Amino acid sequence: MKEIKKITCIGAGYVGGPTMSVIAQKNPDVEVTVVDLNHARIAAWNDEDLDNLPVYEPGLDAVVGEARGRNLFFSTDVDKAISEADMIFISVNTPTKTYGKGKGQAADLKFIELCARQIAAVAKNDKIVVEKSTLPVRTAEALKNILENTGNGVNFHILSNPEFLAEGTAVTDLHNPDRVLIGGEDAEAIEALVNVYAAWVPRERILTTNLWSSELSKLVANAFLAQRVSSINAISELCEVTGANVDEVARAIGQDSRIGGKFLKASVGFGGSCFQKDILNLVYIARTYNLHEVADYWEQVIIMNDHQKTRFAEKIIQTMYNTVNGKHIAFLGWAFKKDTNDTRESAAIYVADHLLDEEAQVVVYDPKVSAEQIYKDLDYLGTRSPEDNRRLVKVVDNAYEALDGAHAAAILTEWDEFKGYDWAKVKEGMKKPSFVFDGRKLLDRNELNRLGFAYYAIGE
Ligand code: NAD
Ligand code: UGA
Repeated sequence: MKEIKKITCIGAGYVGGPTMSVIAQKNPDVEVTVVDLNHARIAAWNDEDLDNLPVYEPGLDAVVGEARGRNLFFSTDVDKAISEADMIFISVNTPTKTYGKGKGQAADLKFIELCARQIAAVAKNDKIVVEKSTLPVRTAEALKNILENTGNGVNFHILSNPEFLAEGTAVTDLHNPDRVLIGGEDAEAIEALVNVYAAWVPRERILTTNLWSSELSKLVANAFLAQRVSSINAISELCEVTGANVDEVARAIGQDSRIGGKFLKASVGFGGSCFQKDILNLVYIARTYNLHEVADYWEQVIIMNDHQKTRFAEKIIQTMYNTVNGKHIAFLGWAFKKDTNDTRESAAIYVADHLLDEEAQVVVYDPKVSAEQIYKDLDYLGTRSPEDNRRLVKVVDNAYEALDGAHAAAILTEWDEFKGYDWAKVKEGMKKPSFVFDGRKLLDRNELNRLGFAYYAIGE
């Protein structure tokens, strides 16, 4: 079997960057090149100051610091990297389609197809092409078609190797994965990729399947995880009207080893670039095959999640005497979860949008998200003019400044630092009554009540 000496990854994003950094770290004899069309992103990956990497992940700076320049390279020369590689990972974005057939549900595969066409045009020797992006089941068939019909007589083996890392814990997830999944048809190609991972992952955790099982398993894993969050969030609403406490319920059911304790944390709603996108994709695929009950079943996970975000915003309005017009609401957190600078589909965006419709004055503080990104997220919704977003929303780089003079604080992301604030001091600076709406159940209710806050948390 051919030994893999050079790996190229197309797409230097949240998956391509960290994944390839760890592959390079653990395979010092393999040269790994990550390429992207986005020059600014590549420049940031090459920045001498490791604090400026384009993706914030705990521990990533050390991994990049170890491998970059040794056997890990970031480049914008896509053609060169394709032509030199034995194995090519495709790790480009696969967003939900915003136009045409399947708009709002199907995955947009235009970036994947462009990669396939470029590989076909450039390749002069045999290549293993690895789908790292999350793709609809049977995409490998389309890839194979493009590669074989526009190629130059070169052999391509296609593998599916979906990524299961979660943002905020990407490096530990990559170092110690529950499993690595490899789907394919060609035994030698599969073995070549198994060997790359076997440099640090125990063999029994490297699962091999057929292509279609691998592609589908990725969508199903995300659907199951998101379903648990929507399930506990549905129960959080019931807890609020019955006097039960959702954390206590989660603990009680999670102790049952058949259920398990993970992913039962009630919240203001799940966000992130993938849960919603991948479920919508699953729903679309089911409908394409006329499996309407299957589609409706999974769609409900999204409906519940949208309800949770709306419900949180409405709770704020209703509690503050049915009007937030002109009221200063401090947002603690904008990222979709802690320990990441990623804001894609963050619940904070939708909660803010709802409050801004009511003319609230929102002041945002997030330890890792820039003002530029926050305005970009709001402008992208197209709900109001960019001028209105800037009139109603202020972004500050200090939480105490955000909270000073506020009528209410809303916790949207579970950043650890929020727990350590001097809440007595915060209270002094806030308007009275001082409301705290805890969308992450992060703070201690007894302590906040003792300090005199009007404290509301999801599911209590
Ligand atoms: P991303 O948007 O952060 O990165 C994708 C990158 O690909 C971008 O930098 C873009 O410029 C680049 N790109 C697009 N087309 C290109 C082309 N033709 N040539 C060169 N570069 C190109 O996306 P991401 O979060 O890294 O996700 C990538 C894939 O991985 C998606 O399919 C996603 O569903 C999946 N995934 C993401 C996560 C996650 O935590 N973000 C986890 C598992 C799987
Ligand atoms: C998720 C999966 O966990 C990864 O396995 C997968 O690879 C990835 O999607 C992907 O395909 O993109 P990620 O979205 O990065 O990872 O982060 P999660 O930890 O799954 O959190 C997703 C959202 O659910 C966050 O908004 C989080 O706050 C929320 N969540 C999670 C809860 O509200 N409660 C929980 O108990 C867990």
